Amino acid sequence: MKHTDIITVLKSEPSLHEVTVRGWVRSFRSNRFIAVNDGSTIKNIQCVVDFENFEEETLKNITTGASIEVTGALVESQGAGQTVEIQVTKVAVLGTADPEEVKLTILSPKRHSLEKLREQAHLRVRTNTFGAVMRVRSKLSFAVHQYFQENGFYYMNAPIITGSDAEGAGEMFRVTALPPTNPPLDDAGNVNYKEDFFEKETNLTVSGQLEAETYAMGLGKVYTFGPTFRAENSNTSRHLAEFWMIEPEVAFCDLDGNMDLAEDFIKYVVKYALDNCQDDLEFLENRLVDEEKSKPQAERSDMSLRDKLSFIGENNFKRVSYTEAIEILRNSKPNKKKKFKYIINEWGADLQSEHERFLVEKHFKCPVILFDYPADIKSFYMRLNDDGKTVRAMDVLFPGIGEIVGGSQREERYDVLLQKMETMGIPKDELYWYLDLRKFGTCVHSGFGLGFERLVQFVTGMGNIRDVIPYPRSPGNAEF
Ligand code: 4AD
Ligand code: MG
Repeated sequence: MKHTDIITVLKSEPSLHEVTVRGWVRSFRSNRFIAVNDGSTIKNIQCVVDFENFEEETLKNITTGASIEVTGALVESQGAGQTVEIQVTKVAVLGTADPEEVKLTILSPKRHSLEKLREQAHLRVRTNTFGAVMRVRSKLSFAVHQYFQENGFYYMNAPIITGSDAEGAGEMFRVTALPPTNPPLDDAGNVNYKEDFFEKETNLTVSGQLEAETYAMGLGKVYTFGPTFRAENSNTSRHLAEFWMIEPEVAFCDLDGNMDLAEDFIKYVVKYALDNCQDDLEFLENRLVDEEKSKPQAERSDMSLRDKLSFIGENNFKRVSYTEAIEILRNSKPNKKKKFKYIINEWGADLQSEHERFLVEKHFKCPVILFDYPADIKSFYMRLNDDGKTVRAMDVLFPGIGEIVGGSQREERYDVLLQKMETMGIPKDELYWYLDLRKFGTCVHSGFGLGFERLVQFVTGMGNIRDVIPYPRSPGNAEF
């Protein structure tokens, strides 16, 4: 028999026609009320059984975590919290769950810490919090595609395995098919990658940008949306070793156009979530309020989750040059009182997340786009300004998150790029194809990368990035 998603059933009018739902038991109270959830919505459907009409053996197996099929008429609900419920005529247990074992897992009906949920990541999507986060994540990824597709961008798949280091930072995972013990050596005694699968050194990509640039130079406007990998030893609530990045790249677009695009794009996807994830966001908002109760008043946010999301759409991001930002930071209270871990003394300093968050949360109190950074602290491909010391880089900084987007206008001048690569020690022979782009019809072009998990973190209000991706990978952790 066909079954109906609970999200659809809950929106239906009461009717004498029978409906069938399938899902997992959340609770079974008084041998009478089964709360069933099938993942289609955060809401459960209440199924009412008259226990006299059912076999004891069946009822005994209706326990938290079990999967069941329920059929009955959809009637107006007598209880609070729902408009309709199922008056059960048939119930079948499809998969049992031993209560003794369930008791030891996060499926048991009590509060579990997020850490505990992470340890049982194969079960955590059955909790309200993770169900909500993962539904929002899915909706957001659809919004990403919708935004670009509606604005004339083509979706481009950059390779996962690559020979180049797009960021020039050397934080890569090696990909090899050589034996780990006694690999073939060259004359100098180093591992001889000429004998490896690809006959060269390869690694997992840190960014699809360079390949996206090649496609922007033919398709005009492109975007990637795929996994990227960083072997940086950052054990923070905002870093993953495997994360998803969205990277638009646009020909004939300068940095101002790039900032406009980033702002418009973020506003669109955040609004999409507000419009399409109401039940989940309501739940996550209340979760956050609960969580904040344990914090001192001063650390609680003065805006609700959905107010914060609306604020993004209603206010312009503040655009500030790096040089202005350094002045603000240098004269700031936490800098003068040495409250920052890294004190800002002079122009040229790299900004840490404490500085970014000060600018966004304390000083401007809105999202900030910083631009024109010192060339020395940014990647080789960024376009050099006429001052000879800053580059056309931009970072979008968000409250609670810090950097959510990093991007730039690209260096389109062959000679300048070549010189930059030489001084920064970027291998020219490996990236000859990237240089070639500047020889065959080069043009002003720009792009950026948005860390998808940081976006999901912002929209769901989750404090730790490990709780917005199904199976997080971080230093010392590749479980599941
Ligand atoms: O600033 P990043 O390193 O820039 C690039 O990779 C450029 N190639 C992008 C481009 O211009 N096409 O990374 C971009 C964004 C960051 O702003 C951040 O949101 C996210 O990617 N990110 C991470 N997210 C989670 N875990 C990590 N380890 C991340 N590293 C960067
Ligand atoms: Mg960056």
